[in-house]
Amino acid sequence: MAVISRPAVTCRPNDLHVLETERLWIVTSRATDYVRWLRIAVDDPESAPDWPEHVVAQARQVAIGSVADPVDASQPGLPVDPDWLFLAGVHRETRELVSSLSVFSRNRASEIGGSVRYGYRGQGYGHETLVAACALAHRHFGIARLVAGAEPSNTASRRWLAGAGFTSATGPPRVKLGNGRTIEALWWEHVDRDAELRCSRPRPHFRRGLLRTLARR
Ligand SMILES: CC(C)(COP(=O)(O)OP(=O)(O)OC[C@H]1O[C@@H](n2cnc3c(N)ncnc32)[C@H](O)[C@@H]1OP(=O)(O)O)[C@@H](O)C(=O)NCCC(=O)NCCS
Repeated sequence: MAVISRPAVTCRPNDLHVLETERLWIVTSRATDYVRWLRIAVDDPESAPDWPEHVVAQARQVAIGSVADPVDASQPGLPVDPDWLFLAGVHRETRELVSSLSVFSRNRASEIGGSVRYGYRGQGYGHETLVAACALAHRHFGIARLVAGAEPSNTASRRWLAGAGFTSATGPPRVKLGNGRTIEALWWEHVDRDAELRCSRPRPHFRRGLLRTLARR
């Protein structure tokens, strides 16, 4: 199991969190980062076909522009939602958005997924983002178990997850994407028995039950 340490994170009452990695700032829940990321995602030649048409049309109206200072409190935030967390990876030198992750909690599981901006892949940014996000999720937001689903043919995704300490798990063999396309999925998990809630952000309600389940294993 991967060694997880408590991250040094700026935690603001408006739900802004900033965690510094070697090359990035990992920033939570700024609406400006989110809409820019949607624009980047719909322009991505690999994932563009998976976005519903109405999202593509809306996202194309957003100018990517330059990203604001990661601790700029004047940036609008996304609504605080215990079941959904958005993290953006901002390059500390260029201020470019290079990665994004989200953690979505439903059906008693917290599912993590994400991507690295096209053109920045294969340079370690995915690994840097995922390791930091797992530490933040477990040791700041108190999420004990993260799961991730990936298509069996997606080697980059498999290596990305394995490299951050994810191990094989069970899960639904097929999932339906937002555009209606159904894909096969393999499942992965990242468990931290010493997960610790240090944030006043609301959390998914199932956490206590899940910890009891883990303790009985
Ligand atoms: C998967 C993804 C997030 C990885 O991010 P990245 O910055 O490219 O990955 P890194 O450079 O940090 O490398 C992480 C691992 O993936 C491997 N990898 C990266 N790109 C790869 C590719 N095209 N083919 C095979 N392996 C690849 C690296 O070799 C490394 O594995 P290793 O530690 O065993 O050497 C990125 O490729 C991506 O955004 N893909 C499209 C969206 C996606 O598939 N998301 C995952 C859904 S679960």
